[in-house]
Amino acid sequence: MPPDAPPISVLVVDIVGTDQGGGPGSPGPDAARRTAADDAVNRARRQIRLLGGTLDAPGTHAAVGVFGAPVPRVDAAERAVRAALRVAEAVEDLEEEAPGGIAVRAAVRTGAYALADDHDPDGAERLLPSAAVEAAGALHPDGGPGVVVDEATHEATGSLFEYQAVPPAGGQPRTWLARAARGRFGVDLELRPPAPFTGREHEIALLSDIYARVLLEGAPHLVTIVGQAGIGKSRLLAEFWNHLDARPELVYWRQGRCLGGGAGAALWALGEIVKGQSSILESDDAATAAEKLEVAVRNFLDEPERDAVRRRLEPLIGLLPDSPDPVPASENHAAWRRFLEAIAATHPMVLVFEDLHLADSGTLAFVTHLAEEVRGVPILIVATARLELFERDRTWGGAIGNATTITLTPMSGRDIRTLVGSLGGPGDTTPGGLALLEACGGNPLFVEAYLGLMSDLGADPASPGIRPPETLHALMAARVAALDPDHRALLGDAAVVGKVFWPDALAAMGNRSARGVEEGLGELARRELIRPARRSSVEGQQEFAFWHLLLRDAAYESMPSSVRPERHEALVGWAEQLAGDRVADHAELLAHHSLQATLTGSEQAAERARRFLRLAGDRAASLDPARAAALYERAAALHPDGSDEHGALADAAARAAAAGPEP
Ligand SMILES: Nc1ncnc2c1ncn2[C@@H]1O[C@H](COP(=O)(O)OP(=O)(O)OP(=O)(O)O)[C@@H](O)[C@H]1O
Ligand SMILES: [Mg+2]
Repeated sequence: MPPDAPPISVLVVDIVGTDQGGGPGSPGPDAARRTAADDAVNRARRQIRLLGGTLDAPGTHAAVGVFGAPVPRVDAAERAVRAALRVAEAVEDLEEEAPGGIAVRAAVRTGAYALADDHDPDGAERLLPSAAVEAAGALHPDGGPGVVVDEATHEATGSLFEYQAVPPAGGQPRTWLARAARGRFGVDLELRPPAPFTGREHEIALLSDIYARVLLEGAPHLVTIVGQAGIGKSRLLAEFWNHLDARPELVYWRQGRCLGGGAGAALWALGEIVKGQSSILESDDAATAAEKLEVAVRNFLDEPERDAVRRRLEPLIGLLPDSPDPVPASENHAAWRRFLEAIAATHPMVLVFEDLHLADSGTLAFVTHLAEEVRGVPILIVATARLELFERDRTWGGAIGNATTITLTPMSGRDIRTLVGSLGGPGDTTPGGLALLEACGGNPLFVEAYLGLMSDLGADPASPGIRPPETLHALMAARVAALDPDHRALLGDAAVVGKVFWPDALAAMGNRSARGVEEGLGELARRELIRPARRSSVEGQQEFAFWHLLLRDAAYESMPSSVRPERHEALVGWAEQLAGDRVADHAELLAHHSLQATLTGSEQAAERARRFLRLAGDRAASLDPARAAALYERAAALHPDGSDEHGALADAAARAAAAGPEP
């Protein structure tokens, strides 16, 4: 092997039966499995090519991909592992669509291989010597499914993927099981959509065009997608993500949600982005979170700026110094931007801020700062917002040169008909179908929710006697009302937690058994009111999300206002224990729940509200001093005038107010 040749990574894919061995070539138990295996091989080959790999002669394997040859690549190992994980995922999807009892066994080996002599670039007989391919194939000692990598691959990509060391077997080379890419996507992206994407070709083309320009110019651009609730903003994003996923370059897609309804916290969306980039889970303790952040920062930044940037990122993930001093926005903005720029210098980046109309003013200021100040790297910033954003900021985006607003108008009659059809709804020649077409106002969420309601009620949506509700709001309320009381109460508790929730919380809040919660959630998922997320932000807990935020709102509103405070109080206990030593990260949220709970007159709730408001002020001091001042003031108001606590909090408020916002 030539010692100075750039490393090449070889990916070997085998398709195995989950119950017994057998690849595409071996005699499977039936034709169905063979078809599934053929499909799987095609998917594997496609993913390898998409990630820039070259397909090599597969020999006895299902597919072999070579990364870093014939064209050398610095990120060959990363591409090979990403391809392997995507192959595994593509085959999992296939299994879900049409179970064939198959799974993927893949191995990545990195080395300085000599290219095979008999390689002819046009005839493409064989690129790598077969010994190199066999060495990679042999990394799987027990033949089970999964993606394993060798030591060189692990060394090159250890910070990019979550790995688990495979216990060493005598004489075998060391290997690691690759679990997933570090970092998570946004919640709505990971959910399976109910209907195929319909229409919106122009919007996808526009987004793709802007993205291409960002790449070409190596400069930022801000796109704001605006439109009424349910019109398809998040879905457009998800489709755009699919579109990018099919491109050859690796893109870092990082997404954060702005939380509203008092449940928001300063810079929460940016915190989600930083946590996503660093693979930090809500359930991680402070030491684990700090370590993960350290790795993420080390990946992209060198001394001397590394430490300074890390210190400014820490409050975003709930790590606070003992006595936080207010930090002016300019200092934070520069450090946060540096982190993002350093990442985007390695791969193009798409930064998504979902539901910007709910954002705190610190987030709005930072998004503007990014769009205006990022230099020399490709960052596409995409925000979604309902029209209320312009009530808060009439000129949003207007003063920024490199900004575009995409307004989503109602879907055309033709597209809505297609959508109704693909959801199995009534044709527009039936009275019910015609009424739906008129009532929905081009809103796809209306169509989905209405057909869901008809199915809940066991009603025929085509029949003449049925009149759709007048508004989306009324429609959502009707869906909640159609539930039996137990399921409605369960959904109500979930709504108290938020758009995203975990079964443990519901069990704790209602003294329910885990089994009961599981059954209830199963029924709610079957009715398409909630859906499980692919990956959870809480270790060991399946995460669920409402199908739509409006449904969460309807479920919350369905609870009599007299019982809401006690539900909030029940939640705080669970959430505080989950937050552990990173409680500061959730302090503003916990303060919100505690304040709601004080309506029961509970002294415990009042004590919590004071404590969490103060802690939320401490967190915000490091992120957005103006917000910190407001939080400290609210905390002060809960202490008697003239008390020591009142005085200390009033002082803290004054100090924070002096630090920001800047002129
Ligand atoms: N073009 C489309 N084709 C098919 N289904 C769509 C389309 N656009 C939206 N939908 C479906 O309609 C529902 C609502 O869309 P989405 O969640 O994107 O709305 P939204 O604009 O983000 O609303 P909100 O402001 O409440 O966040 C989703 O289930 C989505 O899958
Ligand atoms: Mg949305």
